[in-house]
Amino acid sequence: MTALSGLRAVVTGGASGIGLATARALAAQGATVAVLDLDPAGVPGPLLGLRADVGDDTSVRAAVDAAATRLGGIDILVNNAGIGAVGTVEDNPDEQWHRVLDVNVVGMVRTTRAALPHLRRSAHASVVNTCSIGATAGLPQRALYCASKGAVLSLTLAMAADHVREGIRVNCVNPGTADTPWVARLLDGADDPEAERAALNARQPLGRLVTADEVAAAIVYLASPAAASVTGTTLAVDGGMQGLRLRPVTPS
Ligand SMILES: NC(=O)c1ccc[n+]([C@@H]2O[C@H](COP(=O)([O-])OP(=O)(O)OC[C@H]3O[C@@H](n4cnc5c(N)ncnc54)[C@H](O)[C@@H]3O)[C@@H](O)[C@H]2O)c1
Repeated sequence: MTALSGLRAVVTGGASGIGLATARALAAQGATVAVLDLDPAGVPGPLLGLRADVGDDTSVRAAVDAAATRLGGIDILVNNAGIGAVGTVEDNPDEQWHRVLDVNVVGMVRTTRAALPHLRRSAHASVVNTCSIGATAGLPQRALYCASKGAVLSLTLAMAADHVREGIRVNCVNPGTADTPWVARLLDGADDPEAERAALNARQPLGRLVTADEVAAAIVYLASPAAASVTGTTLAVDGGMQGLRLRPVTPS
């Protein structure tokens, strides 16, 4: 008997990075897991890969219903699919603002809305949203991305209030910069990838990037019956980036 035996989970954006690590970690704890992703082709068994675009309501409803049918219900929803954007408010055209907010924020609305009838039938219903350090700290060149994650933080609290009396808990994790294919793509596009990685490492008090498995462990905790009294919370997994103020290292 493991912590999540008998529970059924859906993870969006679960074919890569934090979502894949989360899907694996949920399965390792005994859950049966469906992954909803734009590209689920490489999703390993026993995870169930389903194609879905969180930017499209019809696609989301079909995939959530398929997941519920195949798994026999839904107890856990991890809203993790997200996309990035680089720039100040001068840099991103309106279309990009609409696209990123649509995927990162409205995407979570679509999947939660589709999953709620199933979650209401669960004795251990839980939603975990992947937010970001960008919701609580101003990061340079990330105006659109930070705005989307600020909205995710507020949405998490509002959803937690709306559904607490239905027995559905809602929380979010706030990762710092995590070593995933997303960040690898960003580093690959930098003028000096090594210098960029060193700068990202140095920005986190622990001195290194967060791992996808570390974020997944936090998501599994929030999703599990062990967190039965935890709702409307933000759990930072950020190497100390949000809360700590270190003095610069001075040469001795
Ligand atoms: N990597 C980081 O440093 C970091 C830090 C904080 C928060 N996050 C958040 O973590 C989440 C996952 O990021 P990651 O680094 O693992 O990224 P990733 O790019 O490795 O994986 C994202 C996955 O989401 C899927 N996806 C993208 N758009 C989708 C859509 N419209 N519908 C369905 N699936 C879609 C992709 O196909 C991919 O499999 C995102 O919400 C991101 O904002 C990441």
